[in-house]
Amino acid sequence: MIQFLLNQELKTEHALDPNMTVLNYLREHLHKSGTKEGCASGDCGACTVVVGELSTDDEGQDHLSYRSLNSCLTFVASLHGKQLISVEDLKHQGQLHSVQKAMVECHGSQCGFCTPGFVMSLFALQKNSTQADSSQAHEALAGNLCRCTGYRPILAAAEQCCSQREPDQFDTRKAQTIARLKAISPQETAELNSGDKRCLVPLTVADLADLYDSYPQARLLAGGTDLALEVTQFHRPLPVMIYVGNVAEMKKVEHFDDRIEIGAATALTDCYEALSSEYPDFGELLHRFASLQIRNQGTLGGNIGNASPIGDSPPLLIALGAKIVLRKGETSRTLSLEDYFIDYRVTARQESEFIEKIIVPKANAKQAFRAYKVSKRLDDDISAVCAAFRVQVENGAIVDARAAFGGMAAIPKRAAHCEQALIGQPWTSATVERACAALEKDFTPLSDFRATKEYRLLSAQNLLRKYFIELQTPHIETRVTAYV
Ligand code: FES
Ligand code: FES
Repeated sequence: MIQFLLNQELKTEHALDPNMTVLNYLREHLHKSGTKEGCASGDCGACTVVVGELSTDDEGQDHLSYRSLNSCLTFVASLHGKQLISVEDLKHQGQLHSVQKAMVECHGSQCGFCTPGFVMSLFALQKNSTQADSSQAHEALAGNLCRCTGYRPILAAAEQCCSQREPDQFDTRKAQTIARLKAISPQETAELNSGDKRCLVPLTVADLADLYDSYPQARLLAGGTDLALEVTQFHRPLPVMIYVGNVAEMKKVEHFDDRIEIGAATALTDCYEALSSEYPDFGELLHRFASLQIRNQGTLGGNIGNASPIGDSPPLLIALGAKIVLRKGETSRTLSLEDYFIDYRVTARQESEFIEKIIVPKANAKQAFRAYKVSKRLDDDISAVCAAFRVQVENGAIVDARAAFGGMAAIPKRAAHCEQALIGQPWTSATVERACAALEKDFTPLSDFRATKEYRLLSAQNLLRKYFIELQTPHIETRVTAYV
């Protein structure tokens, strides 16, 4: 059984198909058709809903946070213990919500298909920023596509609803919502099942380890931004899932003198502060990772675990020398991230083993870290090539070099020949040219619809040249760049 609030209404579900997305739950099960299906793959934002989640800080204070999500990529079981708000919930006592009024007054809607998604993204923006500047508005709306209105009126609506913000029904009921969420706060492993399908929702890492031992065939569900596509795009049912998003130990970010430890189920949005403060380029990349909705649900552990050759975080983490902690039952082992990836979608993970946390070394002032993403669009796009470099130069000579790439091979990978061509050499353009030439020995990229193999190799070489030029001329601020 799972329990959640649908706005203020308590929902208790015993026997729903665990493969049902929140989008289908709203539209087909509850017949609430305000939330739209555009792409069913996290690209258009028409299905955006907002999920409220309770957290308690170190002083014991309760906090209610609201985040926009793509309901087409969210399985119903992940709502357990949370509050779901859909577009139908915004109108109150016959009055449009201020974000809806702003869309009307700024002429932000024509055919209206995208409008519920924009409204929900604006609602989340309003809840999270009192005085949103235009860059925050752009970021909040980058995952919402409109085919007819054009974005200027919608951005004007964003400005209006954030600058003329008045308390709404969600503010006035905040204490009540917190009390109701506390009352349904999960106390033990929950399960949603129907027929031969089940989704288990553990609360502790020990319970997760036990369950995964018992169900080694289970698919681990974190944000679901990749896994849900198996159901929605490929129509492949997922008979057993274990949802890790309610395991509090795996959502922690802990700072130590020499490292940051990030629980594998930490949403990308929640990684931002820790990673960007140590490595500004990591923050830049997270901004371009995907839409805000995806970053609100996608996790760092998921981005590693799905072992995509074009996942955005692995090249950066590999260049930084990050490690992962893998757990199976009561046993844990620590592995360098670069050793996790073996071949296309093949990893060092053993049966019933899962990524518990990611260990990222803290920045060292002697090492210069930069990251670059090459994609066709700036926002919400997948890399053709992603590169990360961390070089240490002392007395004009390179004493350490790590270069890692995504999109250049079947796995995210260090460029061993390139690194060898750098280490021990003077930090000069001649050395960099030799290292660029060595990249041809490191990689034989593929051609696909994102880029040709020649484009990929030349981009990788040019990114290393760019890194060198930027370190010579630090006033240049073009670190994470899209080439169209
Ligand atoms: Fe397009 Fe969900 S339907 S993002
Ligand atoms: Fe028609 Fe946006 S108003 S798609």
